[in-house]
Amino acid sequence: MKIENICCIGAGYVGGPTMAIIAQKCPHINVTVVDINEKRIAAWNDEDVNNIPIYEPGLSDIVKEARGRNLFFSTEVDNAIDKADMIFISVNTPTKTYGMGKGMAADLKFIELCARQIARVSTSDKIVVEKSTLPVRTAEALKNILENTGNGVKFQILSNPEFLAEGTAVDDLLTPDRVLIGGDIDSEKGKEAVNALVDVYANWVSKEHILTTNVWSSELSKLTANAFLAQRVSSINAMSELCEKTGADVNEVAKAVGMDSRIGSRFLQSSVGFGGSCFQKDILNLVYIAKSYGLGEVADYWEQVIILNDHQKRRFAEKIVKTLFNTVSGKKIAILGWAFKKDTNDTRESAAIYVADYLMNEQAEIIVYDPKVTEEQIYADLDYLGTRSENENRSLLKVVNTAKDACRDSHAVAVLTEWDEYKKLDWKEIYSNMLKPAFLFDGRRLLERKAMEDIGFEFYAIGN
Ligand code: UDX
Ligand code: UDX
Ligand code: ADP
Repeated sequence: MKIENICCIGAGYVGGPTMAIIAQKCPHINVTVVDINEKRIAAWNDEDVNNIPIYEPGLSDIVKEARGRNLFFSTEVDNAIDKADMIFISVNTPTKTYGMGKGMAADLKFIELCARQIARVSTSDKIVVEKSTLPVRTAEALKNILENTGNGVKFQILSNPEFLAEGTAVDDLLTPDRVLIGGDIDSEKGKEAVNALVDVYANWVSKEHILTTNVWSSELSKLTANAFLAQRVSSINAMSELCEKTGADVNEVAKAVGMDSRIGSRFLQSSVGFGGSCFQKDILNLVYIAKSYGLGEVADYWEQVIILNDHQKRRFAEKIVKTLFNTVSGKKIAILGWAFKKDTNDTRESAAIYVADYLMNEQAEIIVYDPKVTEEQIYADLDYLGTRSENENRSLLKVVNTAKDACRDSHAVAVLTEWDEYKKLDWKEIYSNMLKPAFLFDGRRLLERKAMEDIGFEFYAIGN
């Protein structure tokens, strides 16, 4: 079976970059990305490719090359679905905020809506690919909805989890460690569908890097990979607190431990806590699944990764308050970085949101500067927490366009995202414009202690 038309439902951080690369690498396939969000689609179609809604290094060039040739962005969902031989579902699956499984289970409302829409408008057989991270056995639910349409159309369901990390999406997609495809490999039709998707990736990924499994293994592998990665961050963050008490340095510990090839050096960078749309959501999801099978110890084991992460964010904020003589009320604190990591404009679950919220509860005045995150997004993140009114958020926190402006006349500066440009700031000048003693809190181990202390800062860094 040869794929000629692909449709992707959801033009977000996953769907957008993934489809851009497929279109670039497979000029013989027409790729249409659809979304119900008109503003987002309009941004993807903006004549100036620098205005596409997602910031990823290298992405705008690829969009420029493929857009209008075989890559299209549209709000006409029904049309695109019916035309496609293969449909990727890349809609968001946030943690449920209501009802059963509130705060833990994934909300599959958007997925189910997609499935019903696909069932309603399809007039020819299709392969449906789960791209969003989903709880194990979602494919079965999809299958149930799709198979009971009564119009004789046949569907094959594949799981093809996305392993790209934001900020490096283009590289991760171009040279993936592996591509994972789960399908009904015990049936002829299932095998055919798996092979059709293998052939798409084989346009640029070598076959040894394309792994095929049954659907459940594929779905669970995605949750497991994110749980392991997050666990590494929580493990090193746990050590960071112990290092601060004992005089060890967490960077030295991480280096020494990481050189053991059985452990490996990546994902041992101690921080103010992990964020992003995946880690917390996927672990909560794993915990919920384990509990629902009665596996209490398994659930508790993984939940600890989240508990430690919450603790890390809180203890950083507490450290600021304690250091500033136990009160930050009315004090100006500059926050450098709002994105959950560098090189992305995504802020979902970013540690900065929680640190700011904590400090605002202590009546601090917060000034934020992030090179890629908009003021609108920052307020939306705070409003979403619901800690205080929208007016109070806007009066307690201001957003400015340069680091220099953020730090001027402040009591303290906190670095919460590891943007490269913060390393190159004129820290001497920043120091001279701050109130004294001038406190600097490095939540990312971005700055050199000695250089900062020589300038005159009272310096605190995670795990040191
Ligand atoms: C360990 C450390 O590896 C070594 O660096 C340190 O100096 C001493 O402690 P050891 O206890 O000899 O070495 O064996 P190791 O290979 O680490 O295995 C420990 C246990 O884990 C064994 O029971 C082994 O069967 C088990 N294991 C190890 C697993 O169950 N699965 C694995 O993937 C690896
Ligand atoms: C993650 C997975 O890496 C990716 O494979 C999956 O598809 C989606 O989730 P992402 O959330 O984009 O990707 O970013 P990632 O690089 O994994 O970072 C997650 C968080 O952990 C960030 O807040 C980052 O700052 C933090 N982190 C990461 C650390 O604090 N220390 C580290 O050593 C690594
Ligand atoms: P991710 O990081 O998983 O890509 P995003 O939130 O960035 O998540 O993107 C998901 C996109 O899916 C959003 O732009 C949202 O508007 C879109 N979406 C959600 N439900 C539907 C639907 N039923 N039809 C089309 N698009 C949808």
